[in-house]
Amino acid sequence: MCGIIAYTGKQTAMPVLLDGLKRLEYRGYDSTGISIISRKRIKTVKAAGKLNVLESKIDTPITGHCGIGHTRWATHGAPTDENAHPHVDSAKRFAVVHNGIIENVDALKAILGDDITYTSETDSEVIAHLLAQHEGDFIDAVRDVLAQIIGTYGLAVIDQQNPDQIVVARNGSPVILGIGDGEMLAASDMSALSRYTNQVIHLDDGELALIEPESFKVVRMDATLAHKEAITLSNQAANYDRGGHPHYLYKEIVDQPETAQQTINGRLDERFSTARLGGLNLSARDLIGIKRITILGCGSALYAGMAGASMIESLARIPVVAEPAAEFRYRNPVIEQDSLYIVVSQSGETFDSLAALREVQRKGGFVLGIVNSVGSTIAREVDGGIYMHAGPEVSVASTKAYTSMLTAFALLALLLGRSRDVSPQLGTSIINELKALPENISKVLTLETDIAKVADRYKNSHSAFFIGRTNGLPIALEGAQKLKEISYIHAEAYPASELKHGPLALVTEETPCIVILPDDDLLPKTISSMEEIKARSGPVIAVTSSDSKRIDKLAEAVLRVPASGPLTQPILMGVVLQLLAYHSAVSLGRDVDQPRNLAKSVTVE
Ligand code: F6R
Repeated sequence: MCGIIAYTGKQTAMPVLLDGLKRLEYRGYDSTGISIISRKRIKTVKAAGKLNVLESKIDTPITGHCGIGHTRWATHGAPTDENAHPHVDSAKRFAVVHNGIIENVDALKAILGDDITYTSETDSEVIAHLLAQHEGDFIDAVRDVLAQIIGTYGLAVIDQQNPDQIVVARNGSPVILGIGDGEMLAASDMSALSRYTNQVIHLDDGELALIEPESFKVVRMDATLAHKEAITLSNQAANYDRGGHPHYLYKEIVDQPETAQQTINGRLDERFSTARLGGLNLSARDLIGIKRITILGCGSALYAGMAGASMIESLARIPVVAEPAAEFRYRNPVIEQDSLYIVVSQSGETFDSLAALREVQRKGGFVLGIVNSVGSTIAREVDGGIYMHAGPEVSVASTKAYTSMLTAFALLALLLGRSRDVSPQLGTSIINELKALPENISKVLTLETDIAKVADRYKNSHSAFFIGRTNGLPIALEGAQKLKEISYIHAEAYPASELKHGPLALVTEETPCIVILPDDDLLPKTISSMEEIKARSGPVIAVTSSDSKRIDKLAEAVLRVPASGPLTQPILMGVVLQLLAYHSAVSLGRDVDQPRNLAKSVTVE
């Protein structure tokens, strides 16, 4: 999604802005631009395409110490040079970068009148023209204009007449201030700030900030001052490095033994054979009072939620459903006092997940977050939660965060199970299972060569099926999602039991079927589904923790994960499917880290 970087301070702004844009690239974008106050004038360069196109348009470096930059992911208007941000008013006094959507753009254009010549098709350009019609203080002018806007924004504005100052504002789209030494930054995402500072302030909706090299102030839309505390982030910059790996996605896959360990660290309570999750803000009495759980998320976070639902329901015997956050909030959901709601999100900024969270809270429901991004909006607004501690995830396709979501759910299932009927003996065995998880993920990573061979063999397939049952189904869904999003091979996931109710019609010798076979009670039934596929000449790739010889007989390839307990075997199988998608994408020459049409952190509806 769109990204913002803003800089004012002792350094020349241009390299800082370009570096910031580079770090925002991972969010997905189709045009870029920068505006810098240089020799008392605003200089703007913008370009459709990737950052190198913008760089090639800058013949001589732009001087100046204050500027803004943007990566745009087209919503209103095609990705063209004109539609790229920043946008300026006719006199080029103000330059604006904007993330979000202005819903009343037509009404605002009517207010501006017919004399304005618009240079783009974007909604954002009106902000610059509206500012040009305001007299007075810079921040007050921005506040007055924002008061007229219906919609969402994260934005940054520079003013030729206040050459050291930047005004940023937030309503529904993140803005973070970075406090440096003799310099101040602002960005839509920590990744753009991490090289310059670890002292950050998250703006809340309805707040604006005026930043100058040595100072900043945050005000609300009613002009009252907001007191904000900076938070210190640890070891951020290293996490944005590819560490010598060919892709961020690969790094994030192979880092998983460590990142899963980070999710578990300090959370196993061996004395009481349970999990220690201090951030839930739920007493033991609250825990036993929970009658139902609804898990909400989007995309891979939703599939992680489905896996979590299965873990919690089977262990704690609480009815749990997982639903797409956007659908949930629009169907006027019934919120119950004895239900627990859980929002799952890597970024903590996904618009639909945040909106669902607010809808539940508005109706009096208690919401936990399972979130990766520290200090993100969802993390700040939930009533309690579990941080994944997986470190920043840069590649658009989620891998390590997804695995940490499942790991966090396993911890929660253990806690809820032990607050009910799970015995200390079973609790201890789950603790041992969780302790073994990082090592078992390392063992799965040793299957890489075999997985790459399978990927290479089937890379030219037009379509693939992923099937599984109960615990295996959410893993199949995520496996299909990963394959389609990064390799562009069409993939569908089905409950294995549903195959003969329709999709079997599509199975031919050209359709690889990836079958998820945890070593559980349903194993014989899933093996029967393999037989059905085999009978239609469909190639079967088995991902299993079972040593059944029948599987070897029926499958073209068997990818065997280490034997482990019921909570973690789906996690291990998920890692196999990540590597399968990765190697399929690489062998097809895809842009693995920035797949087409996709964006990281979807901050619009
Ligand atoms: C897929 C993927 C997306 C995200 C989804 C939710 O690989 O990354 O489907 O899972 O957009 O994002 P978060 O977890 O940030 O809320």
